[in-house]
Amino acid sequence: MKKTFLLLCAGFFACSAVGQQVVVNTQNTSLVVSAPIGEQLKFVYYGNRLSSSDLTVLHDVENSNYNAYPVYGLTCPTEVALAVKHPDGNMTLDMVVDKVDSKQLPDGELTVITLKDKVYPFFVDVCYKAYSDTDVMTIWSEISNKQKKPVMLNQFASAYLPIRRGDVWMSHLYGSWGNETKLMQEPLQAGMKVIKNKDGVRNSHTSHGELMLSLDGKPQENYGNTMGVALCYGGNYKLRVDTHDDEYHHLFAGINEENSAYNLKSNETFVTPELAVTYSAEGLSGVSRNFHKWAREYKIAHGKDLRKILLNSWEGVYFDINQQGMDQMMADIASMGGELFVMDDGWFGDKYKRATDNSSLGDWVVDTDKLPGGIEQLVADAKKHGIKFGIWIEPEMTNTSSELFEKHPEWVIKAPQRDLVLGRGGTQVVLDMANPEVQDFVVKVVDDIMKKNPDIDYIKWDANMAILNHGSQYLPKDEQSHLYIEYHRGFEKACQRIREQYPDLTIQLCASGGGRANYGMLPYFDEFWVSDNTDALQRIYMQWGTSYFYPAVTMASHISAAPNHQTFRTIPLKYRIDVAMSGRLGMEIQPSMMSEEEKALCKTAIEQYKEVRPVVQQGDIYRLVSPYDDLGVASLMYVDTNKDDAVFYWWKTETFCNQHLPRIKMAGLDPEKLYTVTELNRIDNVPLPFEGKQFTGSYLMNNGLEIPYTHHVDYHNMTDYSSRVLRLNSKY
Ligand code: DGJ
Repeated sequence: MKKTFLLLCAGFFACSAVGQQVVVNTQNTSLVVSAPIGEQLKFVYYGNRLSSSDLTVLHDVENSNYNAYPVYGLTCPTEVALAVKHPDGNMTLDMVVDKVDSKQLPDGELTVITLKDKVYPFFVDVCYKAYSDTDVMTIWSEISNKQKKPVMLNQFASAYLPIRRGDVWMSHLYGSWGNETKLMQEPLQAGMKVIKNKDGVRNSHTSHGELMLSLDGKPQENYGNTMGVALCYGGNYKLRVDTHDDEYHHLFAGINEENSAYNLKSNETFVTPELAVTYSAEGLSGVSRNFHKWAREYKIAHGKDLRKILLNSWEGVYFDINQQGMDQMMADIASMGGELFVMDDGWFGDKYKRATDNSSLGDWVVDTDKLPGGIEQLVADAKKHGIKFGIWIEPEMTNTSSELFEKHPEWVIKAPQRDLVLGRGGTQVVLDMANPEVQDFVVKVVDDIMKKNPDIDYIKWDANMAILNHGSQYLPKDEQSHLYIEYHRGFEKACQRIREQYPDLTIQLCASGGGRANYGMLPYFDEFWVSDNTDALQRIYMQWGTSYFYPAVTMASHISAAPNHQTFRTIPLKYRIDVAMSGRLGMEIQPSMMSEEEKALCKTAIEQYKEVRPVVQQGDIYRLVSPYDDLGVASLMYVDTNKDDAVFYWWKTETFCNQHLPRIKMAGLDPEKLYTVTELNRIDNVPLPFEGKQFTGSYLMNNGLEIPYTHHVDYHNMTDYSSRVLRLNSKY
């Protein structure tokens, strides 16, 4: 029998081992690898937290045949995490454990296992970070070349995890512009499942760099062992799950290496992005709660702060911006109880005016024809109305019709000897963030605005184009394949500088809607625009998917006009409000087109949202009935950490006569506590039968409440839509 040596740290978290076995623990999970010095690093276990007695026998019973960071060359037929070409042309690696270190960081415990090649001076640090007070750990690699000449990195995944086969299902997000974060659930079958992005700029429109694996059969929201992974990277990524002839699915995650082979110089270290990993026995929602808690604590700018309720000008006026119009919108949102007004696209340009989307990006000066009083006047007007002011920019982009492009054509991404490939408006191009001068420019865009107007509270940072042609006018010839990677390094450097200077600014991440929702980005951004599609019914599906990985505090969700500007569907205001209220509530509408009755409904909703905002934005999510299950209704709830206060949402998603909707059981409450039920945003002439009544958490979770199919309103106000928002409070 092999002997196993364990070293458990004195603190709550376990860390590295003396001898063979290294254990990384979070509150409720353990990851175990075998790391004998001079031998290969093997994966042993990832799942529920192990007891010390289980740990002592683990090595004898668990399959530890798999390299924890598989490399290419001496195991050619399998998928690998790392593949290189040495300066002498050798394509193989043979990595063994050199040392194991661990240290306490302010936000967690870091375990680093250094691997070295048996022959070449080439090293990989396999890093595991257990974040304090969460059930999330991150895994990544740091690849170092100590040879005299560059090593070509052809594959360089952040992490690898084997997953025992059985009835394993994958849940992941896919979509497109206006239809982001659709949920796809499928069993893992033989072959390779690849989820990837190659946009260069916006990496989450068409698919997301996150997934969940339900290990015990079909995915369930509130039970079942479930694993979640999220690649924290804003650039091109690739998640691969390979299933071939053995007992495991093989998951690899990292930067998408296609057209990105990396020339690792002598003495250079390549740091791959973190892969966040979590595990829960409480199903998909359990995994979401783990991610949300970790994200609010560590991975979202101001993740623990509540967000302001805002009006954004885009769908209200589009490019038709003027001083008086902005003032009117500010007055309107203030009168409804809103706290912030955001002026969107269309405010800038001097020689080239931004009348539509085909000019002026890069010329971040006020169009004084539209705004004679400048931003100063807008900020002053906001103050007059008792609200804050925010502004839209798209600093990584320019148009060929702009003064910036005239001055700096060498700053844009362009292939040598080729014509520019143009994007939005037929004139948009992407600035080369690899170029430090461009980084300085981008930082200065924010700096110039903020220096002149230090009271600006919020920036909406947009990005409406992919990298459509490959070529950096800055990078040398032999580093052209670094373009995608250097773009993101440059972007991150700019973000870091902006955040150092403006730590309190709220910054929204927008990229033609939800094109940039990723934990590689969110440390610099407070929230993201889920989609350019504001249709409330379709938002239920998109926000459902988004909630798998992202908490409501990040999810900008706005009440917009009817008919909707994207789907042309007419949805009653009550329903639009009830959907928007399940995320970070805002408005995206021209209030001057609303009736007094509509404004009053919004005013009440804003007032009531303020009361439940801490629960929605900081509480735990329990998804109850999925819109994707086609049961005619979708429902979820948020519960505060003390289980005193909760908000329950119920939205009818289809209407057929005599359709039988399910009665929905709640979740996440304290079975012993008594909750008083109050309906929010009530439009009915009569209260619901359970209004003001008290129920135990146990009753609500075992039986739920019977929600009527429709609203008790006057006949001429009847519609095919119905929705309910209930507050459950145990303190009154
Ligand atoms: C795309 C964004 O997603 C919209 O919200 C809006 O800001 C436009 N860009 C402005 O051009």
